[in-house]
Amino acid sequence: MKFFKQTTQKIFKMFPAYPPVPEPGLDGCRTCAVVGNSINLKRSHYGKLIDEHTFVFRINFGKTKGFEEDVGNRTTHRVMYPESATDLDNNTHLVLFPFKIQDLQWLVDAFKTGSNAKSYAPIKKRMSANKSLVMVVNPAFMKYVHQSWLEKEGQYPSTGFMVVILALHICDEVSVFGFGADSDGNWSHYWEVLQNKALRTGPHPGSVEYDMISELARQGKVAFYRGW
Ligand code: C5P
Repeated sequence: MKFFKQTTQKIFKMFPAYPPVPEPGLDGCRTCAVVGNSINLKRSHYGKLIDEHTFVFRINFGKTKGFEEDVGNRTTHRVMYPESATDLDNNTHLVLFPFKIQDLQWLVDAFKTGSNAKSYAPIKKRMSANKSLVMVVNPAFMKYVHQSWLEKEGQYPSTGFMVVILALHICDEVSVFGFGADSDGNWSHYWEVLQNKALRTGPHPGSVEYDMISELARQGKVAFYRGW
């Protein structure tokens, strides 16, 4: 608990204490595109449509270069955790989804001294991004999403699904792109050939998440673009 408190204090010193949620457009409406990394974006031609939203949320390694036609090229928010961190340009919000307390410490170190954190995957030592645009999601958010939106199915929610729920909280209109397994039931990406054919949806309740997004779409709460 002490470590958690000390770490969050450092976070509040270095980064904005209130989430820097950008102003809505001229019509007063914040439209948000949440772009997951599904292979169903390939040949979708959604690029222009995605870029028309006020905010475009991309997740982890979701690339744009070379895939503009299908995924667009604007990124206002990039959601990540230390194992999926990438450098950002000066106008993009870094949105950290912490999975463990060390992830909060990583954020401080990666901007200051450099991080030596060890994990199940390589961790980026230094981050280059605009500090004043950093947003850190409350760690309790994952629990809330797991309990209230997924009835505790699966081990824990996927990052993408958590971003859909986050967007519902901060946007007036939410469009969802790039969610859904391939025909073998694997969560393959639009930019690469899947290596691990036994991936399925990892520890996440993929089909429960997909069904929930479909239900939200049926009720008119989100627009769901299911891809190609
Ligand atoms: O693979 P990665 O976690 O980077 O993808 C981001 C998010 O996109 C996932 O957390 C998941 O919610 C969603 N996704 C999906 N279907 C895929 C690939 C990813 O729904 N085929």
